[in-house]
Amino acid sequence: MSAHAPLRKIIITIDGWSSCGKSTLAKQLAGALGYIYIDSGAMYRAITLYFLRNHVDWTKLRAVEEALRNIAIEFIFNPNSGQSETFLNGENVEYVIRDMVVAEKVSEVAAIKAVRDFAVSQQQAMGKGKGIVMDGRDIGTVVFPRAELKIFMTADNAVRVERRFKELYAKNPNLTIEEIKANLEMRDYIDSHREASPLRQAEDAFVLDNSNLTMKEQLDIALRWARERIKGIVT
Ligand code: CDP
Repeated sequence: MSAHAPLRKIIITIDGWSSCGKSTLAKQLAGALGYIYIDSGAMYRAITLYFLRNHVDWTKLRAVEEALRNIAIEFIFNPNSGQSETFLNGENVEYVIRDMVVAEKVSEVAAIKAVRDFAVSQQQAMGKGKGIVMDGRDIGTVVFPRAELKIFMTADNAVRVERRFKELYAKNPNLTIEEIKANLEMRDYIDSHREASPLRQAEDAFVLDNSNLTMKEQLDIALRWARERIKGIVT
């Protein structure tokens, strides 16, 4: 490889427990490397929002399959916020999918195999050109099992609850810390115990516990791993 050859692009996956800062790190990494960031959880949240709004009985496979045929999810870059935002059938739902009403049902919906097949095939298509950072629960294990860099994030429970509380309280001051805690615990339980691609650490993942790390420290660690992997690929 010549000294001036463009760097090969890689796929970076970030999996882990609810609310441990995966999307923050994924956005930081994508920004630093000039990669695309994809929030796979936003897809499950958008599907859940559609099911709730349209009273889809997701215990019935026929109803789920029929509903999925009517769902189109896109990520569109907003130059004002500098972020890509989630669109459901042409409507910007980036804000509403973060609501507690969605968070209460999303893990139940995300455990349905037909829903996962629908989301995973789209996620895999988005990674075709590489140069992507995707965060979720099964990205390093199922979506991109051959990704060049896999990160598994964790953080202390109390730290995660506190972070999510601060984030959601700004939107809804009626929320209590107990509700947030119960929601995170419930989602982690369902996500790690479901039959279809449960949350688990890929064998070749690097573990990053960010309980006591600043945003800069966590980015420095992950960037070092990413640069090693990028350099390590011989063209
Ligand atoms: O941001 P937070 O960690 O709270 O969750 P999220 O990434 O927005 O994901 C919401 C939910 O979608 C998770 O609790 C999982 O039930 C589901 N999910 C999944 O099953 N597989 C993924 N790859 C991403 C999310």
